[in-house]
Amino acid sequence: MNTRLTEMMGINYPIVCGGMMRLAYPPLCAAISNAGGLGNLTAAMYEDRESFRGAIQETRRLTDKPFIVNVTLLPSIGVSDDRYAMYFDTLTDERVAAVEISGTPLHRYQNGFYLKKLKDAGVKLFHKVGSVRHGKSAEKAGYDAVFAAGVEEGGHPLNENVATTVLTPRMAEELSIPVITTGGMADGRGLAAALCLGAEGVMMASRFINTRECAVHEKVHEELIRRQENETVLYGNSIGLQGRALLNESIREVLKIEERGGGLEEIIPHIAGALGDEIWQKGDVERGLVAVGQSIGLIHNVLTCKELLDGIVQDAEAILKSNLRRFS
Ligand SMILES: Cc1cc2nc3c(=O)[nH]c(=O)nc-3n(C[C@H](O)[C@H](O)[C@H](O)COP(=O)(O)O)c2cc1C
Repeated sequence: MNTRLTEMMGINYPIVCGGMMRLAYPPLCAAISNAGGLGNLTAAMYEDRESFRGAIQETRRLTDKPFIVNVTLLPSIGVSDDRYAMYFDTLTDERVAAVEISGTPLHRYQNGFYLKKLKDAGVKLFHKVGSVRHGKSAEKAGYDAVFAAGVEEGGHPLNENVATTVLTPRMAEELSIPVITTGGMADGRGLAAALCLGAEGVMMASRFINTRECAVHEKVHEELIRRQENETVLYGNSIGLQGRALLNESIREVLKIEERGGGLEEIIPHIAGALGDEIWQKGDVERGLVAVGQSIGLIHNVLTCKELLDGIVQDAEAILKSNLRRFS
């Protein structure tokens, strides 16, 4: 399946893994790239240069295919400029194939110094955005492509809440650089739909949790199969950073705190990163932030990355061909 995304990155399938804090480690990243997609290594899990460089090198030992590195650029949540400098310097030195920026656009950080540095090193730059104007601004600044992130997505959808089905064609009609749909994408129907809407591919994250190569407790896999599309919720508007997460005990508490006007100090204990290991490694999904998207309604099994990606592309091709026949 060839699109401008597969051509730009030299990959077989137009399917990218999104950044996933605590989950997108080298083995999963490499498995996705080896299966023909674009695996993701998430920088925020590494606090120093040695471990970050080590993770890039470990991924390269596991795959000779390209992969993308997520940098969530949110200086406002207390990550230091030194840490970001370490990420961008290492990514430049290592000349990784591609970088996914979310949060602050790279051209608005440090006067675009790192954007230029990464581009000069030949790194492809992708920005995850939730609006047409942010997409246009990224294109103007020299990004190579954008992820059009609809409100269905896990993580932090923009609080304008535009759905993927509208955001994708709007971005495709306004931008010249490739647009890749994210939010609600989990199977061949999604990929076929995204291509019809003008995208060059899809980014998925939640779906990749239910792969054999994603190192989580079996209870997490079972829970994602059991939970449906109406069991995630938007939270965080009162503190200026909207997120989407699984509806569980902690998020119910957060919603109550927000409703009565409570502040960040009250919210943090319920969603703190420290709870992450309990969730993913011990399978306690009722406590803490499980940042999944509405696409969990489309997760019915656990597959290897290869089974998942082969299946998605075969299904998408079949759907596109059969519908051509149906309507001609
Ligand atoms: C468990 C999990 C952790 C995530 N962590 C990050 C992150 O650290 N940075 C980021 O930019 N996006 C993060 N995201 C968002 C994804 O990269 C992606 O934009 C979104 O999940 C796509 O929607 P989907 O999950 O329905 O496929 C995370 C998503 C999940 C499911």
